[in-house]
Amino acid sequence: MDKKIAVIKGDGVGPEVTGAALAVLDATAKRYGHKFKYVQLLAGGAAIDEEGAPLPKKTLKEARKADAVLLGAVGGPKWDSQPADMRPEQAILKLREELELFANLRPVYMREALVEASPLKAEIVSGADFLIVRELTGGIYFGSHGTEVIGEANAFGRFVDFLKKEKTLPPGRFAYDVEQYSEVEIRRIGELAFEMALKRNKRVVSVDKANVLDSSRLWRQVMEEVRVKYPEVRLDHLYVDNAAQQLILNPNQFDVLVTSNLFGDILSDEASQITGSIGMLPSASLGEGTFGLYEPIHGSAPDIAGTDSANPIAAILSAALMLRYSFGLLEEAIAVEKAVDSFLLAGNRTPDVWTEGMTKVGTAEAGRLIAGYIGQ
Ligand code: IPM
Ligand code: MG
Repeated sequence: MDKKIAVIKGDGVGPEVTGAALAVLDATAKRYGHKFKYVQLLAGGAAIDEEGAPLPKKTLKEARKADAVLLGAVGGPKWDSQPADMRPEQAILKLREELELFANLRPVYMREALVEASPLKAEIVSGADFLIVRELTGGIYFGSHGTEVIGEANAFGRFVDFLKKEKTLPPGRFAYDVEQYSEVEIRRIGELAFEMALKRNKRVVSVDKANVLDSSRLWRQVMEEVRVKYPEVRLDHLYVDNAAQQLILNPNQFDVLVTSNLFGDILSDEASQITGSIGMLPSASLGEGTFGLYEPIHGSAPDIAGTDSANPIAAILSAALMLRYSFGLLEEAIAVEKAVDSFLLAGNRTPDVWTEGMTKVGTAEAGRLIAGYIGQ
């Protein structure tokens, strides 16, 4: 199979973890007789430095031409004082929006070899295996945003325009972000979550804040409407605060968890610790077709960038998700996941998941070793 992969290494540890993922993809292509052509593209801080914009037009254009995108991470303190629309994170948000990748799948899977590495008790995390389905192109991330100074001409008027509700605001700086969902957006992510549940253990938990938020009440109603089409799937609702504690109290109760953009962002970072480290969790961002963007859920980790100590497993498992969802290469995807298990079972650990008696390895070596296990 011939495939074109747009590779956005990004900032911080992005280039290191992506490098390891490409080593594993190369080994997979060789072992199974495929051709993966990589097109390196700039985005994030690296693009701001070289092109003066977080997402250069060329990057978006080339990404559209590829069969899938593999992304490392973007951002770092160097660009923290940039204006909002010039921050590196804008690259990811624009890519998701422009490519209409409304569904973000974040599988949380406790690899048995790492049970001891989790900060939670082994008996709690052992066997954890669930899928977080995060809505990715709506909600507060894409609602109205603004910063105004109350007391300045028109500032209050601009705010009231969308709020449609008069409220006395004290003078001074004022900022807002609007959480908003249309039923169309909720339905399509709901349907995807139920479809995923059909292939798993047929249980969906929808997470919202329906005791406080209108957008969550609509979310809950639409999820109830969607369930009618899936009588064999069980649907439960949890408030997000409760979900946050249930995740660490008893992660084994979950099968598919579907939630909004912001709640999904927060809960997936929390859930990553079940599996030992944020360096373990991959993600797939999908739209209507097979095209997808694949990235670890972690950030650019500027504190350890360039030290060859980042865990590349999240990036490598993201590549496995690409093989599975965008290319339909199931056997190959499983081979990558098995290679990760073999690597861990042999006692290899990057520093984030290292425990007594294990062999410490760096990012690049982890990539080489995992690549070596492909198809064995
Ligand atoms: C993630 C990240 C992004 C998000 C940032 C970098 C914009 O935290 O993919 O989880 O908030 O979605
Ligand atoms: Mg996040």
